[in-house]
Amino acid sequence: MSVTVSPLLLALREGTRACHQGLEARLPFFSAGFDRAAYARLLAAYHGFHAPLDTLLAEYQTAERNKTPALSRDLGALAIDAQALPVCHALPRIDDEASALGVMYVLEGSTLGGQVLKRAMAERLGIDTDSGGAFLDIYGAQTGARWRSFLQRLAAADPQPAAQARTVAAAVATFTCFEQWLEARRVLVC
Ligand code: HEM
Repeated sequence: MSVTVSPLLLALREGTRACHQGLEARLPFFSAGFDRAAYARLLAAYHGFHAPLDTLLAEYQTAERNKTPALSRDLGALAIDAQALPVCHALPRIDDEASALGVMYVLEGSTLGGQVLKRAMAERLGIDTDSGGAFLDIYGAQTGARWRSFLQRLAAADPQPAAQARTVAAAVATFTCFEQWLEARRVLVC
């Protein structure tokens, strides 16, 4: 299956490039002193964002794209009770297919970066799929195929400029809400 580069994908990349760079620079994965305890706190914060979003996205995507089960599994492996954790309430608005696609672009795209982080966390912290790293490799060998199938859905989206603008705005809002939530949970480096 080849990669489908649609105008909407290009608009999403353009519209969120600065968001990605800004958030990546503030995430602690590669910081000196980042240890298993800090990793566990970070994943707990991720859980607080992804759990309510999985619920909001339920009518737009199948459960195989849910992120919460892998995060709960990781937190269990790290001896944290996922049920007891706080959840984010300042979430991006999802009220139609166009806005859902923008949110999904961010969450699905992050599975690509997850491949880099999976290798880094294995090397630096000795964390693998069974010991807290399931979320970073959530789709495993299916990562590329799931991304390409999402890109096909983007390519088939409503081509009207207003709909495409709603998708990009929802993607930017997803990055912004996530960064603000992680900041409030005090897991960012700066
Ligand atoms: C330190 C943390 C991160 C690193 C090192 C990282 C790294 C990467 C890399 C290398 C890619 C390109 C993968 C490829 O082309 O095969 C990518 C793509 C992407 N990442 Fe990240 N990422 C990080 C965090 C995040 C987070 C937290 C999010 C959102 C919640 C995110 C959203 C995306 C998106 C949407 C794409 C897809 C871009 C596209 O191809 O259109 N990333 N990331």
